[in-house]
Amino acid sequence: MGDNLDIDALKKLQWKIMQNVAASALIPLMRIGDHLGLFATLESTGPASAEDFAAAAKIDTRYAREWLLALSAAGYVTFHETDERFSLSPEQAAVFANEDSPALMIGAYDLLAGMVSNEAVVKEVFPTGAGVAYENSHPCIFQGTARFFKPSYATNLIQKWLPRVDGVVDKLQGGGHFADIGCGFGISTMMIAEAFPNAQISGFDIHAGSISAAEKLSADAGMAERIQYSQASAKDYTGSYDVLAFFDCLHDMGDPLGAARYAFEHTREDGVIILIEPTASDVAADNMNTIGQMYYSFSTMGCVPTSKSQEVGLALGAQAGPARLCGILEEAGFRDARVAHKTATNMVISARK
Ligand SMILES: C[S@@+](CC[C@H](N)C(=O)[O-])C[C@H]1O[C@@H](n2cnc3c(N)ncnc32)[C@H](O)[C@@H]1O
Repeated sequence: MGDNLDIDALKKLQWKIMQNVAASALIPLMRIGDHLGLFATLESTGPASAEDFAAAAKIDTRYAREWLLALSAAGYVTFHETDERFSLSPEQAAVFANEDSPALMIGAYDLLAGMVSNEAVVKEVFPTGAGVAYENSHPCIFQGTARFFKPSYATNLIQKWLPRVDGVVDKLQGGGHFADIGCGFGISTMMIAEAFPNAQISGFDIHAGSISAAEKLSADAGMAERIQYSQASAKDYTGSYDVLAFFDCLHDMGDPLGAARYAFEHTREDGVIILIEPTASDVAADNMNTIGQMYYSFSTMGCVPTSKSQEVGLALGAQAGPARLCGILEEAGFRDARVAHKTATNMVISARK
């Protein structure tokens, strides 16, 4: 090793890498646990030996024990060292075992598996700067996106985010027209349809597979009549709306300014546009933290390739920052663009016609 190495800095970097490697090593274990229902089984068994857990889960005891120990070392499972039993605390069950929990985070692992599986197609376009159409991403990304964002929408969308934007709740309660652009599986669309029974609800997405999934989910929930879904890009849907939303998708679009201009034309007088975007600072140096690490990584493997596959290919990235996003809305003709609300992970940006 060279004489110019700062050994303390080297050790610090190596320890950081070890922590990240340990976290990444859990990805397949979490997927196996999710697919085989192991978290729900462990919740139902209560404190159990590896043998009893394996019997309840109908899996091999040796695999069960190694899986339980790995997750215990991570703090994702509780290890009772006196009698070598394993259980889930209520908090561990809330984030891993209960699909409808507002604290659920297991969907992140679908997304991570999708990112890993996207490696080959994204590596191909790194030298050329070409894009990868969303539909050519690994399918885990589609359902992972829906599942990862759902708990946050369930906790925030109706209760906290929409009320922060002046006039939106009144418009929707009064039978206003709402469009969810880039709606994906329609998780947000269904929540809004349910919360505002008088509103007219439409969902649009460029990806046919996501629209089919959204239609199926709304039919399964008995809401097929309430929501009109159509496969359409952000520059070719029809109708005019009191509230237009782009939830976690404007930065994925090739031409966000074109999409915002098109939205302006399709917003009624005094209508509102709402963006949900990942929280970020306008200055890259301020995004050098855990949230930045996660979103710049998602962005490299998903958002930037998607945007580059489309017309213009602006590739805003998932850490575009509020100034750039508000600037796009104002350039499109909207007024009063501002951050209406912010959490550690999401910003609500609004503007009016
Ligand atoms: C990260 S996902 C978010 C989906 C959904 N809004 C949610 O929050 O779960 C981004 C979505 O934007 C859609 N999208 C990308 N470019 C688009 C475009 N130009 N027009 C319409 N939808 C687009 C993708 O198909 C994808 O469903």
